Amino acid sequence: MTESTTHHGTGPDHGTGAVVVVAAALLDGGRLLAARRSAPADLAGRWELPGGKVEPGERPEDALVRELREELGVEAVPGERIPGEWPLKPGYVLRVWTARLRSGEPRPLEDHDELRWLARHELDTVDWLDQDRPAVAEAALRLPAA
Ligand code: CDP
Repeated sequence: MTESTTHHGTGPDHGTGAVVVVAAALLDGGRLLAARRSAPADLAGRWELPGGKVEPGERPEDALVRELREELGVEAVPGERIPGEWPLKPGYVLRVWTARLRSGEPRPLEDHDELRWLARHELDTVDWLDQDRPAVAEAALRLPAA
């Protein structure tokens, strides 16, 4: 396959063979949305950036919009990719985009049992999944300091 900058079909990533999980640093009103996982047992209670697996043939930004619709009941607009890629379980990698709300108020419809909008100084008040921490730190730089 030839390399392409548009690179559609990022279900399994053709560069690494890994499945891509996309997650959103959803920013609104100077705050970042944190979501507490309700399952599986080993992750329940930990906080994450909401998202999920990219399906075969799906563009990552489309997967992001779909996951936020399914999990939170909102319409969102993807922004910039937060540079980097973080390993999850073997064969899975995490990539993060900023996102803005287009419509709706997030509700924990699927995968989560609590949501919190956190200001920059509150980001350390929840127990983030380890793999999400670098992206949360980077997203914090997009939030107002005060
Ligand atoms: O919704 P879907 O089943 O596509 O994906 P998921 O179960 O929400 O996420 C797939 C995997 O990525 C799980 O192992 C999650 O723990 C992990 N994940 C993560 O580490 N950090 C996130 N911000 C989102 C998902």
